[in-house]
Amino acid sequence: MPTRRPAARRAIPAATSIRRLRRLRRTAALRAWVAETDLAPRHLILPVFVRPGRAGPEAIPAMPGIERYAVGDLEALARSLEEEGVRAVLLFGVARHKDAEGREAWAPDGLVPKALRALRAAAPGLVLATDVCLCAYTDHGHCGVVRDGSVLNDATTERLARVALAHARAGADVVAPSAMMDGQVARIRGALDSGGCEDTAILAYSSKHASAFYGPFREAEDSTPAFGDRRGYQLDHRNGREALRAMDRDVAEGADLLMVKPALTSLDLLVRARSRFLLPLVAYQVSGEYAMIKAAAARGIVDERAAVEETLGALRRAGADLIVSYFARDLARWAREGR
Ligand code: PBG
Repeated sequence: MPTRRPAARRAIPAATSIRRLRRLRRTAALRAWVAETDLAPRHLILPVFVRPGRAGPEAIPAMPGIERYAVGDLEALARSLEEEGVRAVLLFGVARHKDAEGREAWAPDGLVPKALRALRAAAPGLVLATDVCLCAYTDHGHCGVVRDGSVLNDATTERLARVALAHARAGADVVAPSAMMDGQVARIRGALDSGGCEDTAILAYSSKHASAFYGPFREAEDSTPAFGDRRGYQLDHRNGREALRAMDRDVAEGADLLMVKPALTSLDLLVRARSRFLLPLVAYQVSGEYAMIKAAAARGIVDERAAVEETLGALRRAGADLIVSYFARDLARWAREGR
């Protein structure tokens, strides 16, 4: 006669078929222990708008919390950033006098070169990157030289190379061409190398889609095109393979880092670029993405810190090494404050 097993032992087999993934989510310590990615201030790059005129930061209505600085404000800003733990900035100049070609963009003593010198003197350890484009300097607001209503490619890359060289000579560690002209990386690399700036790195805005999310930035930079739009040179949001072709091309032309933007509409491209390229990948959380979170947080619709950590965390998970974000200072502050 078989003896009867106790009831408790008979119940065991059913339970073993469940994959209990929740075991490692049980406590904050366990969750932190098995976290696959992290998000820290060192991953962030803060965009900084530099405007002409006397000292005193100027608000940007569409971007609460972000200001346009005069060169005279930068010494204090650089010191604060160092103290706060922000390690890198991406500079954008706003022209004093705009013209058809955007000449002020490559003036050796223009706003961005002045800003670079001021920042370098005040905070030698800050990584200094500059946006290289003409749209904030041209009177028509397009990213290059216009003829018969469209932007000329090669005449524009020639000017972009002058801009990059002016920035490099003033001390930029990294120049970031964002005009979306073909051959801009090769042309800039050539100008930097023959101009004695072979150590200046290029962050190529390779995967840059025409976007509704650049609106607040154009208000900050006063760079809205006077006619037409940028779809003749920026990528179509329906295209992903074309973005990878642009990245391939820029790697071949000598890019040191690759940019993907807008960030939240490019998660697929980050994943694909991460497996395809060995270069550092940079995601740009653009002005409209910033403004949306700010607007929703101001109305109590989302918690600002949670929304920022979640979106930036997703960019890290998708494969971004570095992230350009207007929340860089906030993130550094939250890191100091802890949970
Ligand atoms: C310059 C440039 C733009 C942005 C970065 N570099 C504007 C544009 O292409 O219209 C957008 C950044 C942002 O929205 O935060 N061409």
